[in-house]
Amino acid sequence: MKLTVVAATGGIGRHVLEQALTAGHDVTAVVRNPRKMSSAVPTVTVDLAAADPSVLDSAVTGVDAVLSCLGPRSVSEAGIASQGTRAIVQAMRATGVRRIVVVSAAPISTVPSPGRPRPPKHDPGDGFLTRNLASPLIKAVFRGPYADLALMEDILRDSGLDWTVVRPPRLTNRPLTGSYRTAYGQNLRGGIFVSRADVAHLMLRVLERPETIGQAIGIAD
Ligand SMILES: NC(=O)c1ccc[n+]([C@@H]2O[C@H](COP(=O)([O-])OP(=O)(O)OC[C@H]3O[C@@H](n4cnc5c(N)ncnc54)[C@H](OP(=O)(O)O)[C@@H]3O)[C@@H](O)[C@H]2O)c1
Repeated sequence: MKLTVVAATGGIGRHVLEQALTAGHDVTAVVRNPRKMSSAVPTVTVDLAAADPSVLDSAVTGVDAVLSCLGPRSVSEAGIASQGTRAIVQAMRATGVRRIVVVSAAPISTVPSPGRPRPPKHDPGDGFLTRNLASPLIKAVFRGPYADLALMEDILRDSGLDWTVVRPPRLTNRPLTGSYRTAYGQNLRGGIFVSRADVAHLMLRVLERPETIGQAIGIAD
């Protein structure tokens, strides 16, 4: 397949890039700092906080799918997930590319957004402690980044594109296992961790599964 990997220099993005190349895909990377690239693949340099639409169009033209691992490096960069995803969606619409897979986060199922002002109070996959202790605490600490991811999900739902959102819990740098739990539209009971490598694995795997279109997928060890 021809793929564009957005944020290919990030924690998950590096794994998506490596795994896609190992699987024999034809990959274009979109990064804001090409000096951080370790693989010799066609690379388009774009700061998604101020993307030039024609440059982004050139990065997605003719591909079968876009995989975006975009996210803020710090809390002060919150806003980039929705802003960058909006620009990617525009480029995909302009060039007729339909399939997109993005990284969100486990708590987003219960985070309000303009498009989903009254989400469920609890995620059915969350157990007692997560519902009542961990989730409220984490959502208070990461209010800005989570509002950004919830808005990003709104943008995808309204995009008319063939989207899939992957919602991991706490990310680790443990090695690829290819063995993890997933659930449509909800988190995984007791699912506190998952490795960046396994999130990348799922992002590539969903490309072969049309039933994942229009779904938010929970993933955990
Ligand atoms: N950390 C967790 O435990 C956790 C849990 C659940 C979900 N998540 C979500 O998963 C996302 C991905 O995780 P990760 O570990 O792969 O994150 P990461 O290593 O921080 O990667 C973020 C990527 O986004 C890129 N980026 C940021 N601003 C950009 C801009 N203006 N233009 C272009 N690219 C930009 C970064 O580019 P540079 O390489 O140039 O900085 C980097 O490649 C997180 O951002 C978060 O939303 C995280």
